[in-house]
Amino acid sequence: MTAIIIDGKASAAKLREKIAVEAARLKSAHDLQPGLATVLVGNDPASEVYVRNKGKTAEALGFKSVHVALAADTAQTVLLGKVRELCADKSVHGILVQLPLPKHIDEAAVLDALDPAKDVDALTPTNAGLLLSGRAHLVSCTPAGVMLLLKEYVGDITGKDVLVIGRSLLFGKPAAQLLLAANATVTMAHSRSRDLPAIARRADILVAAIGKPEMVKADWIKPGATVIDVGINRVDAGGGKTKLVGDVDYDAAKDVAGAITPVPGGVGAMTIVCLMQNTLIAACTQNGLPLPKL
Ligand code: GUN
Repeated sequence: MTAIIIDGKASAAKLREKIAVEAARLKSAHDLQPGLATVLVGNDPASEVYVRNKGKTAEALGFKSVHVALAADTAQTVLLGKVRELCADKSVHGILVQLPLPKHIDEAAVLDALDPAKDVDALTPTNAGLLLSGRAHLVSCTPAGVMLLLKEYVGDITGKDVLVIGRSLLFGKPAAQLLLAANATVTMAHSRSRDLPAIARRADILVAAIGKPEMVKADWIKPGATVIDVGINRVDAGGGKTKLVGDVDYDAAKDVAGAITPVPGGVGAMTIVCLMQNTLIAACTQNGLPLPKL
């Protein structure tokens, strides 16, 4: 069997087009320009690339884009001051503090300083709680992107056995809530789970968000299962070069799976567009406008 390749780039491009149309409508009908602020502490090269791409996409969609770059040794009080400044700025509707933060900074304190209405990553306890209650407007970007891909490529997931490997605040925990809300039978596994391959082989849909290059092997996958690879790992490609690989051994897995996301070009492409969707939603809610229909 050769799997259907889930084309995240194409799905992202479709959503991006709808967001551009809606942003133009907000501008002409309400003189409202959605604004996204990104905050990066330090100079991790991968984070720099992610943040730059977020800013570029925002600008391409006609959003206002603000970037705050702070040195790696920035004091926590300075960072908190910046976040509060952005929270008070009416032209900024979404704030993204790129994670991870340097070790001397208390991540929870920074998230607590974020206005939940501007928390376009949905990482604050308020937004996590709203998701749990089924009342969230802002949903974490990568899980939201995965749900859109599943909707397009699988359709109704009611009753399906879905395994999420990874329990992070950014992905695993919100993804499990969304899958549960979509009536899947959800299993959460993680680095301490026993006999992961056996758990994985039961899954109709396997979602890998472990952060370990190519850890999920072909013989972990139930034949015909849908495989969603959330990992983005940079590895040595020989000859002084590097390449991106996911958490799944893609080349072998695609001969067993029914459908699979590539890395790059799968889930990653959806994340940024879902961030723009959240910024649009945040701009509407902060201005008393109905939620955009996308
Ligand atoms: N670091 C890696 N992915 C993300 C993300 O989606 N949001 C934030 N804030 N940091 C990240």
